[in-house]
Order: sequence, then structure tokens, then C-alpha cells
Amino acid sequence: MGKILVTGGLGFIGSHTVVELQIKGYEVIIIDDLSNSTLDILDRITSITNNRPEFEEIDLKDKSKVKSFFQKYSDVIGVIHFAASKAVGESLEKPLMYYENNISSLVYLLKQLKTSNFIFSSSCTVYGQADSLPITEDAPVKKAESPYGNTKQIGEEILQDVCSNNESFNAISLRYFNPIGAHESAKIGELPIGVPQNLVPFITQTAIGIREQLSVFGDDYPTNDGTCIRDYIHVVDLAKAHVIALERLLDQKGQSNYETFNLGTGKGSSVLEVIESFNRVSGKKLNYKIVSRRDGDIVAAYADTKKANKILGWQAESSLDEAMMSAWKWEQQIRNES
Ligand code: UD1
Repeated sequence: MGKILVTGGLGFIGSHTVVELQIKGYEVIIIDDLSNSTLDILDRITSITNNRPEFEEIDLKDKSKVKSFFQKYSDVIGVIHFAASKAVGESLEKPLMYYENNISSLVYLLKQLKTSNFIFSSSCTVYGQADSLPITEDAPVKKAESPYGNTKQIGEEILQDVCSNNESFNAISLRYFNPIGAHESAKIGELPIGVPQNLVPFITQTAIGIREQLSVFGDDYPTNDGTCIRDYIHVVDLAKAHVIALERLLDQKGQSNYETFNLGTGKGSSVLEVIESFNRVSGKKLNYKIVSRRDGDIVAAYADTKKANKILGWQAESSLDEAMMSAWKWEQQIRNES
């Protein structure tokens, strides 16, 4: 059996996916430039699976390094491509950096790889505020609100073009809703650099005392309790979906050579419901206040998961409470270590 290349394999979703691949018996090689991760994640993965993945520190913008990588590893049979910059606010400040990081790296990778099985890490951000809920894969792609979102749309278009041009090339874009939580071992999880922009790490950092208070962005949205609704999915469920999607490619089971799937739970939760869930599982009472809306936030997004359920035979297994518990366990673990 050949190897699976996981780019960005030391990142949040990447590291959990490497673990699931190894559990299923795949040999994994990771490429990461360590721009938003650290080398100790490799040890942490190893301590979960007792199996050290191969690792190459490569910046995928370095064309010649990408080329030599595929000369060295001619036995890569599938690629899961996570490596990308992912901060919405930063992308508004540094649009060209985002296009360069996220687009040129994808192009160099596609030009050099010798396998025809490719999984792309996309996002529900491509739907913007969808006209109807839950969101199916057929919902129109809306004009992106940020350069980050645009890089996901462009990435999907690049893959569609490559697939139409080459019938024997197979790609799947996985559109994630809101990944949260951590591995049950609490050995890997989300490690935002600086002040977290996403809700769940902000909650756990507030509860542990690193942040004083969570600001809830708006309680005057047209939802039950006035706060925004999202579909929060446990990162391990998400990781498992990658293995299944990869196997669909390896077994040549695709209905066409380019497919997209939503990865969510199908259930929407409001910001206040997430806080309640956190309070329930942690036994704490989170300090929060309501502030004004955040620019660019959409009111509500949750997945229609029928396509993934039926065609991939996958569905999210963990509840919001379980995901919140794992996030809290991880937060306590890393703070204990430091
Ligand atoms: C955000 C990005 C989205 C990206 C996704 C990746 C924005 C506008 N959107 O999505 O493009 O694909 O992350 O994970 O940045 N919230 C608070 N207080 C906080 C943080 C968040 O109330 O301190 C609320 C938000 O208003 C939102 C919900 O929590 O209603 C979830 O926010 P977040 O975790 O940032 O995810 P998204 O906004 O869905």
C-alpha cells in the first residue's frame, strides 16, 4: 500500500485526520511549514497512535521543494490538502498573502502530484448567507465576504477545471461547517495563536482565566434567542469523514470525478446554546456579555447532511455537549502542561 500525503497535517483538523488515517492502517506523510503549528504535534500524534508519521517541513509556495518532494516520494497514492491560511480578519488585511498562500500552493501541488486522488479542505463559507436552511450542496455559491472565503471558492473552481480537463483525476471538496472539540486523549486539539477569533476556543480560554469575558456578538438577530446559529461539528467526526472520502477515491466509487460534500451535524445551535452546553459539561458559569454584531457575520448556517449520509455513509456521531467537553478537557490539559 502506498502513502497518504496530508498537507497541513500538524494543524487542528489535519492532526486529527492523521490519527484517524493511522488508526485505519494508512501510512501517512505530513507536509507542514509550521507557520501555524509546532513540531511537538508530531510527538503528540505518535503518542496517540504509537506510530510516527513521516514529516517534511515544506512551504508549498516553494515550487522546487514541491517538485523534489514528489521525486522523493513516488509512492503517494492520495492527498488530503489542509495547508492554508484560515483567519478571516487577517485575510482582509493581507489579501495578497492569502491568495499566494492558499492558491499558488494548491496549483504547485496539483502540477507536481503523481496520484489522481485529491481531497480539498473547503468551507461552508462558500454559501454565504444561504437563502434556505438547512444548506444543501446545490445551494448557490455566493460572492465571498473575505479573501479567505474567496480562496476556498477559487480552490474549488481550480479543482473543477482540473477534473474536467482530466477524466482520470478525482477530487472531492469537503465543505466544513464549524469544527470544534479535541481528541478524547486531550493530546491534540485547537491551539489558536494570540486572541482566538472563533467562539469555542474563546469560551474555554475565558473559563480557564486567560480571557476576562466572552463578547457575544449581537442578540438582535432573527433567531429564537437573538444570537447567531451555526452547525458545530466535533473535529474527530470531521476527521473520520476525510478517511471515508479518501477511500471513496481510492476505491474509484465516485459518481463523477469531482464531488462536493457538506460536513456538519445538521443541527443548528445558537451562541447562547453553546454557552449553556459549556456550562453544563464544565460545571462553570461562563462570564459573558452581549455586545454589538460582528461585521460580516451571517445569521444562521447549518448543513443538510443527506448527501454525506447517503453517499459517503457517514454521519456525525458526537453531540454538542460531547464536543464541548472534549474542548474543555483539552484546554485544561494544555494549561496544566505550561
Ligand atoms: C468563522 C469565519 C468563517 C470561517 C470559520 C472557520 C468570520 C466572520 N467567519 O465562521 O469564514 O470559515 O470561522 O472556522 O470570521 N462569536 C461570538 N463571540 C466571539 C466569537 C464568535 O459571539 O468571541 C459568535 C459569532 O458571532 C458566530 C459564532 O459565535 O455567531 C461562531 O463564530 P466563529 O467561531 O467565529 O465561526 P463563524 O463565524 O461561523
